[in-house]
Order: sequence, then C-alpha cells, then structure tokens
Amino acid sequence: MSSWKGLIQEYKELLPVTEETPLLTLREGNTPLVPLEHLSKEWGVDVYVKYEGANPTGSFKDRGMVMAVAKAKEEGSKAIICASTGNTSAAAAAYGARAGLRCIVVIPEGKIALGKLAQAVMYGAEVLEVKGNFDNALDIVREISKQEPITLVNSVNPYRIEGQKTAAFEICDALGQAPDVLAIPVGNAGNITAYWKGFKEYNEKKGTGLPQMRGFEAEGAAAIVRDEVIEEPETIATAIRIGNPASWKQAVAAAEESNGKIDYVTDEEILEAYQLLAKREGVFAEPASAASIAGLKKQIESGEIKKGSKVVCVLTGNGLKDPNTAMGTVDVKPAVLPNDKEAFLAHIKGGVRS
Ligand code: F0G
Repeated sequence: MSSWKGLIQEYKELLPVTEETPLLTLREGNTPLVPLEHLSKEWGVDVYVKYEGANPTGSFKDRGMVMAVAKAKEEGSKAIICASTGNTSAAAAAYGARAGLRCIVVIPEGKIALGKLAQAVMYGAEVLEVKGNFDNALDIVREISKQEPITLVNSVNPYRIEGQKTAAFEICDALGQAPDVLAIPVGNAGNITAYWKGFKEYNEKKGTGLPQMRGFEAEGAAAIVRDEVIEEPETIATAIRIGNPASWKQAVAAAEESNGKIDYVTDEEILEAYQLLAKREGVFAEPASAASIAGLKKQIESGEIKKGSKVVCVLTGNGLKDPNTAMGTVDVKPAVLPNDKEAFLAHIKGGVRS
C-alpha cells in the first residue's frame, strides 16, 4: 500500500501550511507521468502526459481545492461557494463534504458534462444553475462572497494556486528536471499560473530549470489569443468554455517570461487528439484536456516545438467525466448478437465491425 499522505502533508514546507491547518486529504496528488510511446515516435519528440484524471474526483482541481478548503476551515469558515464548468464544483463538493462545510456551486445551465453534475449532487452540494455562462456565474459568486461570510474557492483564491503548483514539483521529481515544454489547456487560466509558480519555486530551491509554458485555449473561447473578452464563448470542450479568464494577465506573463506562447486549437483538433490519445495510447482524458495534445501537434507542425524536445502535456481531467462526448465521437457502437457462441465466432472471424 502506498504511504502517500496527500498534498498538505507531503508538501507542507512548500505550502502555506501552519500548525493550525487541518490535515484535510482524500490522498490527492502523486499522479502518474505516462510516456506516450507511439506518438513520441511518430512526432519525433519525447512526450509525457501528467494524468490528473487519477486524482480522487478525477481532475487537477483536487490539488487546489484541498488547500483552499483546509484554509477556509482553519479560518473558521462554515461555507464555501464557487462558479464552475464542472470540475471545480465536483472538487469543492467532495472536499466540502469531507471538511463538513456547506457547499454552494453555480454552473452554466445545460453546459456541464454529466459525470461532473453527478459528482456535485452525490457529494451533497447545493447546485444552482445560472441562465448564462461561466463568466456570469463567476461574477455572481465573487459578489456574494464579498457580502456574505462564504469563502470563494475559485482559482482567484490564492490557496487554489498554491495547491495546484505541486503538480510542477511532481513533474520535476519524476524527470529529474523540468521538461523543455509544458503544454496545458487554458480556461480561466489558474492552472497555467499555478504551474509556472511551481516551476519557478522549485528551480530556485533545487535548480530544476524552467520549461517553456505553452497554453492552449479553444478557438471559440480564445480570449487571451484574440486579446478581447468573448461574450458568448463556445466549444465542445465545455470545461474551458470561458470568455473572460480571471488569471488572464498571469497567463500572459507565464508565456512571456518562459519564452512560450498562448495559442488556440479548434474543436476538430481537440476531438482528433481526444481519440488519438485513447486509441493509440490507452489514455482516456476529457475533451478539454486533449487541447494540450492538439496544441503540441499543431506546434510541432509549425516548427515552434522542436524535434527532440522533452514535452509534458497536462491531462487535466478524466475521460469518464464526459460520457456523452465520448459516445457522440465514435462511429463504432457495440454490436448486439444473439446469445449463441457461433454467432460471436462468425462475427469475430469475419472481422466485421458494425
Ligand atoms: N481542463 C479541465 C478539465 C478543466 O476543468 C479546466 C477548468 C481547465 C482545463 C482549465 O483550467 O481554468 O485553470 O485554466 N475548469 C474550471 C472548472 C473552470 O470550473 O472546473 P484553468
């Protein structure tokens, strides 16, 4: 059995943890760094994926949420609130339940993946839908948290960034140093901010070096790339359907300071990468996560990412979160056969795929 104790205990020297901080944990962190053998060979780069879908609620949000909720508890808060495209709400609901706090989540009506909604309701959160998008939901919860004694646990809460930076530490430990390139999906831009902070801090402490930070928005929600707020963001990758990222400036700074770039990928490129990952590598991540793989492919083709580079793509959420997109993407559905071995044999030997 693993002796991993979760982020607060494992990284207490590198996090804002005091004697009073509760040792809250669902054993988050310590996620696998998986080499992509086939795609590395095909693309002439050394690609790894940081598989954040292995966290307790199936996304990277657990890293930030364990810190934000522990600090809320330490400060005597009785309730937490967040806006979410789904994963933040799942993590807030789980850690809120664990810590015994009231949890209120505000999500865009009809625009979150089924698995994420199931999580929020199962963990017992009060789920409210806004007739609007994530950006509208975030405006509302920011205002409410100013007026009421309710802690905001979106990534504008600095403890979220602190927790999430630990993924950069794990990557440096696994590889012995930072990769040449870190490719990451960008929605509200908290995670790219957190990784960059983590890489810089670890470099100062351990001399692990710095990667180029390459962030990828979805084309229909590419506010940072276009340098304008998008009032009606649209993308199949609902997790990053955000038109006015809260950590916009920090994302731009991460790209500039690291000699990287914020770029976009189309929904077609996202869906292609989503399937490629599953079918060629046996790795199932949700559509927004595949933006990092789609972006890598795009920038290898453009020559911006050099052959031979060591690249880590962050796979932010588990593929099981969004069964509807998965089933809508494949054209091969299970064949239904009679309860008879011969029928199965005939089907298999014929190589028929229906
Ligand atoms: N990937 C997934 C699976 C996400 O859920 C998110 C954000 C991102 C990438 C982008 O990360 O916002 O830090 O740039 N999801 C948030 C949520 C907005 O509410 O779950 P970011």
